[in-house]
Amino acid sequence: MDNLAKIIGILREHKGYVSGDYISERLGISRTAVWKYMKNLEKNGYKINTLKGKGYMLEKTPETPFPWEIERFLKTNIIGKEIVYKNTIDSTNTLAFSLALAGKPEGTCIIAESQKAGKGRLNRVWHSPHGKNIYMSIILRPSIEPSRIYPITFISCLAVYDTIEIITGITPALKWPNDVLLNGKKVCGTLLEVSAETDMVKFVISGIGLNVNMEEKDLTDEIKAKATSLYMETKKVFDRSYLCGLMLNNFEKYYEIFKASGGSEICRIWEQKAKINGKYIEVNQMGEILKGISEGIDSTGALLLNIGGNTIRIIAGDTTF
Ligand code: BTN
Repeated sequence: MDNLAKIIGILREHKGYVSGDYISERLGISRTAVWKYMKNLEKNGYKINTLKGKGYMLEKTPETPFPWEIERFLKTNIIGKEIVYKNTIDSTNTLAFSLALAGKPEGTCIIAESQKAGKGRLNRVWHSPHGKNIYMSIILRPSIEPSRIYPITFISCLAVYDTIEIITGITPALKWPNDVLLNGKKVCGTLLEVSAETDMVKFVISGIGLNVNMEEKDLTDEIKAKATSLYMETKKVFDRSYLCGLMLNNFEKYYEIFKASGGSEICRIWEQKAKINGKYIEVNQMGEILKGISEGIDSTGALLLNIGGNTIRIIAGDTTF
């Protein structure tokens, strides 16, 4: 833990003021250094009261997902044990990929305040305005064959689904393969990127884009009709560090199930929550529109669509209910 995080910890231990002397002694740094850290905290959105002769008191914590804030809510063994936080970045998935190549361990999580080149599925751009949403990528190193990767997509969707339900009280919807909807609009998209050899996965990057405090004015015209945020649906501003903590806890819960019982169990849970069986669905497969009645997903995560009595197995595409 660095000194900044330690100072916040000390301020939180005390209900009232803490003297600069006390902090400088505990950390083995000068009082001037303590003062500089306080200024730095204020720059990062913390509100610190200073009283001559008494010291410092923490009045307000920002909702920014700083690693040391997220860590307060973490109950995980692997996921989020190391958090890399960036202000602006091209894409958290891209950084996660290079960190994974460089050997970062499973569970490492990359979080950014904004992305200049946020990646969506099928080469789309993920709209990533600054300081409002969650852009997160997690490095996973499952010992599986490449053919068994697909259900990992559902792990992130289920983690987001549970998190939204807990904090808003609204039950979201899951849209095959990788979306979470709130009141019919997309609130979250997930993107898996994989490094694998023919018979072995090296690592998987699970990217999550969750629209949290974004307002209507932050949306581009192109996505206005289709996208939403937790704020837009509830008119409440959410603490993103708490949300990240919950999401990582939920992610680990489902990742543990995946490792213990395999992808088929994750698919079963996803199917149960998505409730798509028997629904009319249209799938856009690279321009070709397939229309049919959903028979759910199979144990590998593929969508089963009944078209005129024949069941077709679909592994990629965009769905519309
Ligand atoms: C989609 O629905 O098309 C997937 C969107 C995934 C967006 C997230 S934001 C964090 C991570 N980094 C990226 O560049 N993309 C994913």
